[in-house]
Amino acid sequence: MTPPRAQASVNVAAIERNCQRLRAELRDGAELCAVVKADGYGHGAAASALAALAGGASWLAVATAAEARELRDAGIATAPILVMGALTSSELRDALAADADVVVWSEPHVLAVAELGGGRVHVKLDSGMGRLGTRDELEASRALALARETRGVEPVGLMSHFATADDLHDGGFFEQQRDTFARWAQEQKAVQPQLIAHAANSAALLRDAGAQFDMARCGIAVYGMDPFGEDAGARRLEPALELTSYVAEVKLCRVGESAGYGRRFIAEQDTHLGVLPIGYGDGWRRGLSNKADVLVGGRRRPLVGTVSMDNVTIDLGADADALQLRGQAATLIGVDRDERVSAEQLARRLQTINYEITCALSSRVPRVQHRDGAAIEPIAAGAPTADAGERAWLPRRYG
Ligand SMILES: Cc1ncc(COP(=O)(O)O)c(C=O)c1O
Repeated sequence: MTPPRAQASVNVAAIERNCQRLRAELRDGAELCAVVKADGYGHGAAASALAALAGGASWLAVATAAEARELRDAGIATAPILVMGALTSSELRDALAADADVVVWSEPHVLAVAELGGGRVHVKLDSGMGRLGTRDELEASRALALARETRGVEPVGLMSHFATADDLHDGGFFEQQRDTFARWAQEQKAVQPQLIAHAANSAALLRDAGAQFDMARCGIAVYGMDPFGEDAGARRLEPALELTSYVAEVKLCRVGESAGYGRRFIAEQDTHLGVLPIGYGDGWRRGLSNKADVLVGGRRRPLVGTVSMDNVTIDLGADADALQLRGQAATLIGVDRDERVSAEQLARRLQTINYEITCALSSRVPRVQHRDGAAIEPIAAGAPTADAGERAWLPRRYG
């Protein structure tokens, strides 16, 4: 059977194992929050979330209200979900209606939550990232005090976010942020000890046990990619996603003949071109023109010529055996026998980060989840899941 034109296969067992691995870094009592925003970094949000929960994550985080709603609709009824992004008032309403926790950093934010009937909040101190949150510790503390006093509003967490956790040569900025947050969080916890302090992303967790606080919010490492852009395997992380296509056509390309838009590949000797029906319309970036390797038959084959919207061409070599490769599977991210193409390698070629490689995969690429190669049921919206005894989710309070 011919393989699909483009497919992302996601091993949920790898996500589970990555979470177990991250849990093992955490001191007793500290929790793992799996970040499943942007459709689980391109892996499928609900399936990733369920795998992370099975692997020991006890919280989920997303960026938007719609992402929280998607998880609830997939039957994730009781796991706490934190919406980390900025919210318009209608998005705030939607987030609270999805029984998600939201982020606040000023008194008006707290009042906005109260006006919508209340909800659980995490107060965000901007300790140096320069994005969401307030840099003003007093403003953050006032927001927290107001949340405590306001009927219906429940302060649950204290948070911050690191700007340079993935950069070991940041001149001490990471430690500065950690210490700023630690000092402020400690003051607040002296008043309300059950508040959950959290700041670490994957890099921070793997870099510094002192940055764990009460919870780590990990994304990239959950999917088995390396937060430092290096070899994920060296940190015992297991890439969960493989991207495959197939060799739809093989043709002779004589010396002087070209492939693709702009003739950016011209054969210097006779060779065979393989055509794969995948392109930038699938999220396989055009910047990879003449710059990537694809695995066919366990061997690296250079991608030659321009990546177009729906096709790429690879060089299969002069040997007439290349003609036998028609119909063969092609691996664009993943492993074929002894060869591997990783998101980290592709990111380096594109001068970007591995996050962008998997997030870029478009909705045209079906995500097919499996468990170490064994087929699993796809997750249907509204279906009961391991997390949900009942389909409807219930409002939840923390003790
Ligand atoms: C606020 C926040 N926390 C945690 C994360 C997870 O980071 P990482 O994927 O590096 O583990 C992100 C991701 O960008 C984030 O924006």
